[in-house]
Amino acid sequence: MMEAIVCKLNGQEITLATDPARRLLDIIREDFDCKGTKEGCGEGECGACAVLLDGRLVNSCLITAAMAAGKDIWTIEGYRDTDRFRLLKEKLAEYGSVQCGFCTPGIILAAEAVLSKNPHPTEVQVREGLSGNLCRCTGYTMIVDAILAAAR
Ligand code: FES
Ligand code: FES
Repeated sequence: MMEAIVCKLNGQEITLATDPARRLLDIIREDFDCKGTKEGCGEGECGACAVLLDGRLVNSCLITAAMAAGKDIWTIEGYRDTDRFRLLKEKLAEYGSVQCGFCTPGIILAAEAVLSKNPHPTEVQVREGLSGNLCRCTGYTMIVDAILAAAR
C-alpha cells in the first residue's frame, strides 16, 4: 500500500508516494540518485549507508519510509556543500585515509555527527563516533588522525 510521506532531504522538502515499509536507503539511492550512500551489509552493521536524521547518525538500511516522515535527512550529496565537508575531505586526503573509498561517505557523516556536538573531541570520542562504521582497508588510525586534525 502506498502512502504519502513528507520529509526533508538535503534541505529540500520532498513528498514520497511509497510503501511505508520501504528502506530509506533504497529511496535515496533509487528515487533521488544519491549513490554516495552505499549498501554494504544491509543489516545495520557496517555504516556504509549512514545518513544524518535530525542530526543523528543512522544506518539508512534500517530506517523505513514511515520512520523518515517529518525528519530532516542529510546524505553525503547535500553535506558536500558545507565547509566542514571540505575540511574533512582535505584532512582525509592529507592523512591517506581514503583507500577504496567505500566507507568514506559514512565515515564523513559519522565525523560530522561527532564534530557538530563536540568541535574538539578526544581520540576516544572520535573512535566511539566511528564505532558503527567499518573500514576494511585502513585500520582506522589514519581516519581518526584526520578527523582530529580537522578538529584542531
Ligand atoms: Fe546499512 Fe551496512 S548497509 S549498516
Ligand atoms: Fe576501503 Fe574504508 S577505505 S573500506
